[in-house]
Amino acid sequence: MKLIYRGKAKDVYELDEDKVLIEFRDDLTAGDGAKKATKEGKGQLNAEISAKFMELLSKNGIPTHFIKFEKPNRHVAKKVEIIRVEVICRNFATGSFVRRYPFKDGQELSPHVVEFGFKSDEYHDPMINEDIAMALKLVSSEEEMKEMKRITLKVNDILSEFLLKKGIILVDFKLEFGYTGDGKLILADEISPDTCRFWDAETREIMDKDRFRRGLGDVLHFYREVKRRIEK
Ligand code: TMP
Ligand code: ASP
Repeated sequence: MKLIYRGKAKDVYELDEDKVLIEFRDDLTAGDGAKKATKEGKGQLNAEISAKFMELLSKNGIPTHFIKFEKPNRHVAKKVEIIRVEVICRNFATGSFVRRYPFKDGQELSPHVVEFGFKSDEYHDPMINEDIAMALKLVSSEEEMKEMKRITLKVNDILSEFLLKKGIILVDFKLEFGYTGDGKLILADEISPDTCRFWDAETREIMDKDRFRRGLGDVLHFYREVKRRIEK
């Protein structure tokens, strides 16, 4: 198989003209790759968790690249050209948000916030707006930015409701989108504890990659707990 992309945590192989195989690796990074580790089993957990979320979203009418899960740590997906815009949705203030603005850590946000970032480790994913995305030729129309925001808010509603029933607060998350060969905009990449923040709804214990970013330990224990709860 031909490796067509190697990211910080996933490898993408070409299967045919319109399908790819995505392999979730055990690598963990933070700070745009500055901090690195490998945790055996992380790739499998993220592949399983992300598959579950992608299936749930597809069932609820969200167009996604996901086709099927392949044991132990792979997704078959539609081949897309990834848009270099990260769409971040925040329900509670934490992380970079409380470093940039005067919100209290853990404060609920009203309205829920959608931000766009430029997907670039070199530039440290700076926040961008519609005009910057257009000027950088990341998208071809402002309408696409609106469409990504609209889908992201719908994803937020679906996942937040689902997770809360499992005792998990969806604090914030990052989505990526891509264009299919015939020019459709669809949800791509992954939705996992690497790309979302999850807090236990009762204790507010951190159940995501912040455990690694902040050196809190027990990273995989909490990834496993997320998987256990969403599969219940
Ligand atoms: P932040 O608080 O560091 O800006 O992160 C917001 C959310 O987006 C959090 O759930 C982590 C996720 N995220 C990624 O998945 N990849 C990234 O490169 C960045 C900057 C954030
Ligand atoms: N861009 C960061 C990284 O180096 C991602 C993060 O901290 O979530 O992986």
